[in-house]
Amino acid sequence: MKTGIGTDVDFAAEILIKGGLVAVPTETVYGLAGNALNEVAVTEIFKVKSRPAFDPLIVHVSGADKVATYASEIPESAYQLMESFWPGPLTLLLKKKPFIPDLVTSGSDLVGLRHPVHPITNRLLSIVEFPLAAPSANPFGYVSPTTAKHVEDQLGGLIPYILDGGPCTVGVESTIVGFRESGCIIYRLGGISVESIEKITGKVKMISDQNNRPDAPGMLTSHYAPGKPLFFGLPDELFREYPATGSAFLCLSAKGIDIPDGIVFYELSSAGDLDEASRNLFSVIRKLDNSDCERILASVFPEQGLGRAINDRLKRASAKRE
Ligand code: TXA
Ligand code: MG
Repeated sequence: MKTGIGTDVDFAAEILIKGGLVAVPTETVYGLAGNALNEVAVTEIFKVKSRPAFDPLIVHVSGADKVATYASEIPESAYQLMESFWPGPLTLLLKKKPFIPDLVTSGSDLVGLRHPVHPITNRLLSIVEFPLAAPSANPFGYVSPTTAKHVEDQLGGLIPYILDGGPCTVGVESTIVGFRESGCIIYRLGGISVESIEKITGKVKMISDQNNRPDAPGMLTSHYAPGKPLFFGLPDELFREYPATGSAFLCLSAKGIDIPDGIVFYELSSAGDLDEASRNLFSVIRKLDNSDCERILASVFPEQGLGRAINDRLKRASAKRE
């Protein structure tokens, strides 16, 4: 199959309506989209990604007005979060209506719903009129794609079309929030910061790391990982432990860090802006993965705003695969 890349939304809609798959841009990362209500399309998503069936898919909708169509028992705080952050990088876990295939939710009675920002993808959603199941458009466990080219590099030949919406503006995946009687729970750190969510809902709980049957496989200890070994820690400790030769160093800004001679370094934002850093994170990791360095040394980021999501991804990228 030859993969086309372009901005032809009508062509993309035609493929989706026939049950095929299209990669689509969102503000977070590119998604591998198919009709969430068509089990053949959903099965194909799992196949193309080599994704285990226990890892449920996020369902993308065209607006908050669609949520009651696909979910029941919608808590007041869910409405408040949609009001504040949709369209945007926030996925809500809500009780699903029975007609959403169990395949999409991996048998869970919760469905992850999200209204993404990108205008092209919103136009697509309004043409097709069905919700789009879309995991990140990368092979399972690898770094998510933030440009159409990233998708082509890995899934080219496996899908008919990639809708090109330019580089993603947020760059890390959506924050996933669930609701219990006791309050809101964050299942995955992402593009909406914990601080912003807590302004709306009050204190939230975080689901801690788990590795076996996870509530959200984005929480798997090893995930978002490049092919090269990545080590995550405080700069001085990394420099002490690993040789300069063959090492590439990734940090927010190199200011104030004493980088040993011979180490190539990459700043994600020389101005120290965590939003800019998250936008650059996955592209730089891909670049380093394709460079001739032997290992990636990644500095801990400030544990605030999107810095927390960046630390979360680097920690998982550094975990040994089991
Ligand atoms: O920003 C994003 O969320 C991107 C774009 C394409 O929207 N999508 C994304 O999808 O990151 P994916 O499949 O790579 O990660 C989705 C995470 C998975 O860890 C999955 O387990 C969790 O969301 N998830 C989805 N539906 C769920 C459900 N019903 N219950 C628990 N976790 C769910
Ligand atoms: Mg993913």
